[in-house]
Amino acid sequence: MRASAPGGRLIGFDRDAVAIEAASKALSDFAGRFELHHGNFSELAGTIERGSCDGVLLDLGVSSPQLDQAERGFSFQQQGPLDMRMDRRQALTAAELVNGWDARELAKIFREFGDEPQAARFARGIAQERTRARFETTTQLARLIERLAPRHGSKRHPATRVFQALRMAVNDEGRSLKSGLAAACTCLRSGGRLVVITFHSLEDRIVKEFGREKTRDYTFEGDVDVPELRRPVAPGMKWVQRKAVQPSEAEVKENPRARSAQLRVLEKI
Ligand SMILES: C[S@@+](CC[C@H](N)C(=O)[O-])C[C@H]1O[C@@H](n2cnc3c(N)ncnc32)[C@H](O)[C@@H]1O
Repeated sequence: MRASAPGGRLIGFDRDAVAIEAASKALSDFAGRFELHHGNFSELAGTIERGSCDGVLLDLGVSSPQLDQAERGFSFQQQGPLDMRMDRRQALTAAELVNGWDARELAKIFREFGDEPQAARFARGIAQERTRARFETTTQLARLIERLAPRHGSKRHPATRVFQALRMAVNDEGRSLKSGLAAACTCLRSGGRLVVITFHSLEDRIVKEFGREKTRDYTFEGDVDVPELRRPVAPGMKWVQRKAVQPSEAEVKENPRARSAQLRVLEKI
């Protein structure tokens, strides 16, 4: 907000009502110059006029308050209900997924959203374990994964990828990101910038693919790009810099959760 020029206006979206409440308090000095919406940023084109924004920032993933509050169920380090919903108005929780989806579906999300090499094994282990008792808590699930894949001194908890995958599935994050990027582009004026901060490779891949498509000076029919069948088009966006911006050492020291962040910037033409 401090970066906004006098007379500038900020429109914020978050799926989490707690984040909206915190933002509204933090921004109280700027009353009249911002509006906050409790909703998915994929819906921003329904609220914001086409071609009206100077900049859009998508700061993806989960927030520190979500991770730190055990009752939100995002962290395997603290005991909480298997919830993981960013928007608590939504019906689907991680418990429903872990207890209700069949092993093949679970393995698919562990593989696709978590890049988990032991996806099928973990999914089978969960399906077997839940015949004895329903999974209710984060630590119950984390303990099972630890039993299936002991740490052997590794720094990373073996349930890290499973938890990431469940969170992405519960919140349908990949699809929200794809529609959010398209909506952001519609809302930008020409010369306006889209800034995206991602926290893992799957998110970053989606942003790079979106950028590749928008910056291409040709189009093609169907799924396969055959050079002879390309048709020239004017690109809709350009990369502001080729490589992703990484946090500095000093920033990571101050905020270790920034260590995996990557920032990419596109400009609308
Ligand atoms: C990394 S945190 C943002 C932290 C914030 N910039 C700050 O400095 O405190 C990501 C936030 O985005 C929200 N979020 C994630 N995906 C979203 C989506 N598709 N639509 C709206 N909000 C989303 C989460 O609920 C979370 O509060």
